[in-house]
Amino acid sequence: MARVLSGIQPSGQLTLGNYIGAMLNFVKLQHENDCYFMVVDLHAITVPQEPEALLEQTESVAALYLACGIDPKLATVFIQSHVRAHAELGWLLTTMTYMGELERMTQFKDKAMGKDSVGAGLFVYPSLMAADILLYQAGLVPVGDDQRQHLELTRDLAIRMNNRFGELFTVPDGYIPPVGKRVMSLDDASKKMSKSNPNPGSYIALLDSPDVLRKKLSRAVTDSGREVQYHPEEKPEVSNLISIYAACAGVSIEDVVRRFEGQGYGNFKKELADVVVTLLEPIQKKYRDIRESNDLRVILRDGAARASEVADKTLNQLKERMGFLMP
Ligand code: AMP
Ligand code: TRP
Repeated sequence: MARVLSGIQPSGQLTLGNYIGAMLNFVKLQHENDCYFMVVDLHAITVPQEPEALLEQTESVAALYLACGIDPKLATVFIQSHVRAHAELGWLLTTMTYMGELERMTQFKDKAMGKDSVGAGLFVYPSLMAADILLYQAGLVPVGDDQRQHLELTRDLAIRMNNRFGELFTVPDGYIPPVGKRVMSLDDASKKMSKSNPNPGSYIALLDSPDVLRKKLSRAVTDSGREVQYHPEEKPEVSNLISIYAACAGVSIEDVVRRFEGQGYGNFKKELADVVVTLLEPIQKKYRDIRESNDLRVILRDGAARASEVADKTLNQLKERMGFLMP
């Protein structure tokens, strides 16, 4: 049994990319591990957020965790800012992170590109992510491929802290899905599907109505050929749709290719939409039920209490070793 931790930012509508790259694995891992899944609101504010939108999205992501099948009896579900230790360990680790390490982070470069002013929080974000993971002594971190570099820094920081202050932190491993680790955009297969893309046609939101997502999938960009074949280099758009089909239907890439042999893109896209609707309809129904009940607040309060207990223990051990006068 491993300690597992992961988080998703409440910075927009969750997409099929989040589901396939992250949440599917959360649900799988909860049965045999000690899991902590949080909504990382402190990370979301590293780019500007409207207060009302942040509030709504935070609750929405937490409800989606449950709607997608995370069971609060098996896993601890909580909001990052409800556990004060995150901000505090984040600061302690920031003082131990080198500028050069942060300058190399490609997510920072991507998010800062073309912006006139960028908050310092966006730059030190990876130290906060390391704190999230190290507080819980997590051994396994299920994430999509885009988080690989942040995880590598987390490992380096764990080792650096252990060398400097004595063995304390578990050095975590990533858990990155073989299929669907990078779900690409529907309008441009060179970019990852992202909830922060200004074109809603580029992503499938988990809460898109069946009509909307059918339309989005029928308009998804494809090449001018007509063979449903999996060649990520030569046919990146169709290959992306094949991966989405495989992940949503729980079948292999080969199964999908075999099934659509000799058929055109039109039929493939129509059946893909059926598969996505079949997956999302029950999730959306459960989501609406959760939002209408009062259970969520109770689950989150309970989750924060359980998480704080583990997190405070690690934080206090470290502070003592670092030479802080303890109260
Ligand atoms: P974020 O939306 O950036 O908070 O990401 C939450 C989780 O979803 C992380 O583990 C990401 O790696 C994963 N994720 C986000 N977008 C994608 C995508 N297009 N493909 C695969 N995984 C993704
Ligand atoms: N940085 C992650 C993302 O953008 C979200 C995140 C924050 C996270 N803290 C984490 C993921 C801890 C895993 C573990 O997707």
